[in-house]
Amino acid sequence: MDLQNELKQKAAAAALEYVKEGEYLGVGTGSTVSFFITELATSGKRVKGCVSSSEATTRQLLAYGIPVCDLNDIVGTIPVYVDGCDEIDGNFCMIKGGGGALTREKILAEASDMYVCIADASKEVKQLGKFPLPLEVIPMAVSSVCRAMEELGGHPTVRDMVTDNGNNIVDVHGLQIKEPTRLEAAINQIPGVVTCGIFGKRGADVLLIGTPEGVRTLKP
Ligand code: A5P
Repeated sequence: MDLQNELKQKAAAAALEYVKEGEYLGVGTGSTVSFFITELATSGKRVKGCVSSSEATTRQLLAYGIPVCDLNDIVGTIPVYVDGCDEIDGNFCMIKGGGGALTREKILAEASDMYVCIADASKEVKQLGKFPLPLEVIPMAVSSVCRAMEELGGHPTVRDMVTDNGNNIVDVHGLQIKEPTRLEAAINQIPGVVTCGIFGKRGADVLLIGTPEGVRTLKP
């Protein structure tokens, strides 16, 4: 395993401590979360059920025999949501959606009391925006959303994938994201944008960063 994956795995293993046995658990998407699911499956910790943010995560959970439930069947909030990120800044705002699962991820983050973010050290940044900002977009609005993003100074490209919700992903390069929460709100107002990959309004509550020296735990 290469160093970056080792660091992802360390962060993923550290998140087990936050899993509440007998309760619902929100589970994100991505390679770091994939390590977390393996850790969860082998830990012996039993949750009431996992609420999954993607078809890929659902498949992995079910392959381990971990029960998956529908968010609509849960009364109240999910105590803990474990997910990764593509970038995270000093205010715990993130860019997410590198795997295209941002909409369901944002729904689960909002529905959860605590977002535990797991990442390797390369994800920490001073300012968001080097990682191209993913947007989930209704197919008929792809061209108009791309034009709107060019007006905001970005360089949009359309990703060659269809999301679990049947939509497109537009990756916006070159944005200077100085005020993440304001830009998130502005992009969410563009007709056809389902979700913007900035997680500023609902950022992380705990950040577990895998480093060669061990796992650093950071809180806002
Ligand atoms: C999935 O859509 C993303 O939001 C992931 O959480 C993010 O891309 C992190 O992925 P890795 O854990 O694979 O780096």
